[in-house]
Amino acid sequence: MPLCGLLRLAAASLASSAICNHMENGMTDLPHKLIISKRGKRGFELEPEVLNTRSDILDFLRTRRSVVSPEIVPPGPDEAMLARIMEAACRVPDHGKLTPWRFILFRAEDCKRFADFLRRRWQALTEDGKELLERPILVTQQAPLIVTVISRVMDHPKIPHWEQRLSAGAACHNLLLAAQAAGYAAHWRTGWPAYDEEVLRHLGVDTAAGERVAGFIHIGTRRDDAPPLTDRRRPFWQDLAMTYEEVCGATGEDSESLDGDEA
Ligand SMILES: Cc1cc2nc3c(=O)[nH]c(=O)nc-3n(C[C@H](O)[C@H](O)[C@H](O)COP(=O)(O)O)c2cc1C
Repeated sequence: MPLCGLLRLAAASLASSAICNHMENGMTDLPHKLIISKRGKRGFELEPEVLNTRSDILDFLRTRRSVVSPEIVPPGPDEAMLARIMEAACRVPDHGKLTPWRFILFRAEDCKRFADFLRRRWQALTEDGKELLERPILVTQQAPLIVTVISRVMDHPKIPHWEQRLSAGAACHNLLLAAQAAGYAAHWRTGWPAYDEEVLRHLGVDTAAGERVAGFIHIGTRRDDAPPLTDRRRPFWQDLAMTYEEVCGATGEDSESLDGDEA
């Protein structure tokens, strides 16, 4: 392992040994600061030194975060690493083994060509007076690799479309996680190109058959001159979870839903 990798590993394990000392809020044991949003929403941000901890799988999942696509530049993964990342993307929960997703791979040159297409489309749309953002074009142009995840659904007697869409979301997230676990910067984007009919036609996305773009996953390296990676506010899981007892009472008899006399 190169020296910088060793140093990073040492920093990560130091950080995780510091984990136990940060229980002051009783909400997460990871080094963090408490954040209250302008609207009073409570949450936390992890300290930058523990972001994307790769020494332990569970700590990686607890500390991973994305790098925004304007900060993602070459190099991306080579073909061998891409194959491993793609394999991970396909290893997701999938009720009925329907594989309700497929992929389009854009290597660096493809990203530039696709960005040219987006620019032409953007110009055509803005001539019509529609307000669209140029950022998706710029970030597409500079990306070393984009994996487009297409969600597709089929009619099935037992498996609703909703579950098939969820599986596509899982494919996006596994792709993101795998890229980040391999040490790459990655970002799940959609934006107007994911919803524009001309772009979808260009990419062969069959909307009539229920296909949708679930995400453009940008994968590469964080640019050297990017500001230090910080966290964004995360919710405390405790603020989002209730026990069954809180919902239905100690005996479950508080619920009137089975009485059948709501009318
Ligand atoms: C379906 C979906 C679409 C998204 N589209 C965009 C987007 O177009 N532009 C963007 O900056 N972030 C987008 N995001 C948000 C980022 O991918 C990401 O959630 C955010 O930057 C924080 O991510 P982290 O928890 O991985 O650090 C999208 C997220 C999801 C789940």
